[in-house]
Formats: sequence, structure tokens, C-alpha cells
Amino acid sequence: TGLTTLDNGFGNTAATKSAITYIDGDQGILRYRGYPIEQIAERGSFLETAYLLINGELPNAEQLRTFQHDISQHTLLHEDIKRFYQGFPRDAHPMAMLSSVVSALSTFYQDSHNPFSAEQRYISSVRLLAKLPTIAAYAFKKAQGHPFVYPRNDLGYVENFLRMTFAVPAEDYELNPVVVAALEKLLILHADHEQNCSTSTVRLVGSSQANLFASISAGINALWGPLHGGANQAVLEMLQRIQADGGDVDAFIRKVKNKEDGVRLMGFGHRVYKSFDPRAQIIKAAAHDVLGQLGKADELLDIALKLEQHALTDDYFVSRRLYPNVDFYTGLIYRAMGFPTSMFTVLFALGRLPGWIAHWQEMITDPATKIGRPRQIYTGEVIRDYVPIESR
Ligand code: CMC
Repeated sequence: TGLTTLDNGFGNTAATKSAITYIDGDQGILRYRGYPIEQIAERGSFLETAYLLINGELPNAEQLRTFQHDISQHTLLHEDIKRFYQGFPRDAHPMAMLSSVVSALSTFYQDSHNPFSAEQRYISSVRLLAKLPTIAAYAFKKAQGHPFVYPRNDLGYVENFLRMTFAVPAEDYELNPVVVAALEKLLILHADHEQNCSTSTVRLVGSSQANLFASISAGINALWGPLHGGANQAVLEMLQRIQADGGDVDAFIRKVKNKEDGVRLMGFGHRVYKSFDPRAQIIKAAAHDVLGQLGKADELLDIALKLEQHALTDDYFVSRRLYPNVDFYTGLIYRAMGFPTSMFTVLFALGRLPGWIAHWQEMITDPATKIGRPRQIYTGEVIRDYVPIESR
């Protein structure tokens, strides 16, 4: 009815006000609650970042202790949840397991169904933050065919996740501090990114007053796609394909430029960043560091560096302002840590969870929030008479 404004993909439409994350795409600036991402990634911890995003301020020592303690008390999954994993096929994608089990949490915690109670919001948030690493590690174990490793609440957040993922019962498992520090940094870098596809999904589902678990489960599914969080898996698969084809970077770039079969340079381009992605810069340095420290030289890193170099000097990419994004180098680090490709997007989800929670909370507590209900420009038939089937 008289609507004329169409904004494909919401490139120029603000869906909400928000005080959580600031991005300046032309200057490559990203700040969580005003703090530059570079400082937080260098000096902060993941749970401190989660607290900051959700509560608006960095915690003091006592507040952080309480937050960490509360999370460490909720890491265990109900035993019945293990049966979900028995039901999934062994080659199920872990993102599908993740979203299904998160959705199912609302059947175990039916007290979560009132998003207007601050107490319920807190306990649901703590449960999710505590349980998502366990859910993710169980998905990994399921694919491996290994027994689940239960969480240990005396360990840090990242340490506990790594142990649940990689430890094998009855065998010693030693945490590698290089891996712990690198994963902590990567989770921080993924923790929020304002109104991206998955966060907008969480807000949209939540705007109908669905519970937190339902809203986050939807966000996980949105993240899964290769144009969003699934790009980290797609990047590694692309590098492997180029390697298998003899490492011919030129030929691949030509394919991308000719848009052959819709091939894109995965891990490149961003809706908002038009000069560089500040996260990618930090991650590129970390990839060199981590692979060096772990002594895991990777031919795929050389291919990635060549691709980047090529793209940054090629008119196709320069004129379209396409630069490496957060997903370009992460996969190489995850691979060096021992994660299979299918787990990469799960790691993105673990990182993004605090951002999703912060946005859900900001949305549900804002009196100005209305149910998200976009409009359309109708392009179909105006009106016609029903035709009985025998006359069609
Ligand atoms: N490779 C080749 N061409 C590209 C790429 C790419 N990676 N990205 C954009 N283009 C081209 C696109 O074909 C279009 O060209 P033309 O004007 O000739 O049709 C132009 O650049 C603009 O692209 P767009 O698709 O309109 O841009 P968008 O803002 O809608 O899409 C994007 C942003 C991130 C989805 C896109 O750049 C892309 O598909 N990148 C590859 C996937 C990827 O790395 N995604 C991760 C994004 S960052 C982290 C996250 O969100 O999870």
C-alpha cells in the first residue's frame, strides 16, 4: 500500500538503535562498548568480554569472579541430552547438532519462557554460555565416535572446552598454552559485530517474545551459511581445492573475476568494511604466530598469502573494495589446533554467543521494541478470478 522504499539486504536501513558495538566501515574501526577491539583482543579475556557486551561495563574483579563461577556451575548437560547425539547420524554437520540441542534446551529449562524477568534472563544467559562449549565438544566427539568427556568446572572457559574436545578418557591430556591463548583471542574477535545476519535473526525471533534458547538457535542456523560464519569452512575448502589443482592461484582468481559458476573468493568482502577488516589484520598476524609456535608449517597458508596479495592489487577486487575479512585466516589457525573443517563455524558460534545474548537482552528490555515485521513491495498479479481445476 504505497510502499516505494526497497532496501535489498538492508544495506541502508537501521533496524534498531544499539549501544553495544560500533563499526566504522570506511576506517576499519570496531569497538565493543567503546573499547577498541585491538585492546580487548590483546589484553582481555573472553568471559570479561562477554560480561562487557552483556552488561555494558567491564567487570571488576569481584563481578568477574561471580560471573565465571556462575558459568562454571552450569557446564554439565542433562544426561537425557546425550540421547540427542545418539539419534544424529555420525556425519551430521555439527552446526545442525548445535542449533538443535540449543533449541531443545528450552524443553529442559521451561523457566526460561519469561523473557521479562531479569532473573530468568540472567540464568538463561549463564546456562547458554556454560553449556554451548559442552554441546559443541559433544558434537565433535559424536563425529569422532569417541566417548564424551564431561566438563570440569575447575578449568577456565577455553581450557575446559579444549579438554572436552580433545581429551580421550583414560589418556593424559595436556593443554597447550599457545592454543589456549590463540583460541581465547579468536573468540574475543568474534564476540560481536552489531546487526549482522545471525544477530539480526536473534533479534527478529526474539522480538516475537520467543525465549532466549529459541532465538539463539535461530541465530546459529543463520550463522551456518557460507556467506556468513560458514565462510571459515568455505575458505579452507577453497584453499584445499586450489592446492589439489596444483596451487594455481592465478587460475583461481581468473575464475572468480569471470564469476564462473558463481565462484567467489571466500573470506573476502564485507557489507560494512570497505577498506579493511580490523579483525582480519589481528588474525593474520596470529596465524603466522600460532603456526610458527606450533611448528605447523602449512602450504595452505602460502596459498592464502598469494591469494591475498593477488587480490589486493587486482582491479576487480580493488574497485569493489574487497578485502580479507575475519574468516580468511581463522581456518588455518583452527586447523593447526587440530579442529576438523566442519567444526570451524561452531567455533565462530562459541565466540558470537555473548553478542547474540547482549543484543537479545538489549532488544527485550527496550520499551521501544516492536515485533520485527518488514514490509514488501508486492510484484504479483493484482486480482484474478478463481479457475476450477477442470478448466485449467
Ligand atoms: N569474491 C568475488 N566477488 C565478490 C566477493 C568475493 N568474495 N564479494 C563481493 N564480490 C563482488 C560481487 O560479485 C559484486 O560484484 P558485481 O557488482 O560485479 O556484481 C560486488 O563485489 C558487491 O558484492 P555484494 O554481494 O553485493 O556485497 P554484499 O555486501 O551483499 O556481500 C559478502 C558481502 C560478505 C556476503 C560478500 O562479500 C561475500 O560473499 N564474500 C564471500 C563470503 C564471505 O567471506 N563471508 C564472510 C563475511 S565476514 C564474516 C561474517 O559475516 O560471517
